[in-house]
Amino acid sequence: MFNKIKLWRKTQKPSTLRDRIEQVKKAQIPDHVAIIMDGNGRWAKKRALPRIAGHHEGMKVVRKITKLANELGIKTLTLYAFSTENWKRPKNEVDYLMKLPEEFLGSFLPELIEENVQVQMMGYKAELPLHTLNAIEKAIADTKENNGLVLNFALNYGSRAEILDAVKCVLNDCKSGIINENALDEKTFSSYLMTSEMADPDLLIRTSGEIRLSNFMLWQLAYTEFWFTDVLWPDFCAEHLIDAIEVFQGRQRRFGGV
Ligand code: IPE
Ligand code: IPE
Ligand code: MG
Repeated sequence: MFNKIKLWRKTQKPSTLRDRIEQVKKAQIPDHVAIIMDGNGRWAKKRALPRIAGHHEGMKVVRKITKLANELGIKTLTLYAFSTENWKRPKNEVDYLMKLPEEFLGSFLPELIEENVQVQMMGYKAELPLHTLNAIEKAIADTKENNGLVLNFALNYGSRAEILDAVKCVLNDCKSGIINENALDEKTFSSYLMTSEMADPDLLIRTSGEIRLSNFMLWQLAYTEFWFTDVLWPDFCAEHLIDAIEVFQGRQRRFGGV
């Protein structure tokens, strides 16, 4: 009887968040987690609020998830914050989204520094308003010596443009003899992408129930594990990240092998 109870206890999933965090830490934590943070607009609409209220709420979630990712020992957290296609949105929404980095980093940067987080950005800087770029570049400079979690914002990022630009650079370098066309392989090509310094994502999360990539890391996600949830980004919390990591830990990655 006692043995049965002991066995039951062992096979029960730990129930509190703290227990679950400790449990997932015992198995393999994905080195690089990428998140398509989607659903801010619908979150606001459900509450009869303007879309920007959803973005504001979503920003608070970024803070919580960054802290947890750091605690879990995730090495890189890439967050899709603004796509090259998001400029199509109404001006007031785009303006607000371009203010978010200042707002976020204005209050959170000291904490990031203290927690040894290194801020990075991938995306096209030239189109960003100066105030947005300044906030990001200050955060990058102030955290460049940190060697904990890399918090990589995909801001004005689009994967097709990234790949096309890499192709143009490769062609140029071939022409000028910097690289040899015959020696061009996947590793060399990867070094021309915005992610040249980082490993491919191990786990991709997309919130809000959309099952698509929306021009996100098309090359880099070739062998990534995908996890989708209907939860809207402003409702995403620690438990959901743990859910995703638990599922990841139960997956068998084969990379084309057996
Ligand atoms: C994600 O939420 C944030 C960005 C794309 C900037 P959305 O704004 O896309 O929210 P939905 O998808 O319209 O609900
Ligand atoms: C993807 O979400 C971009 C970001 C999360 C920043 P979108 O809301 O722009 O994607 P679609 O339009 O639904 O594909
Ligand atoms: Mg969306």
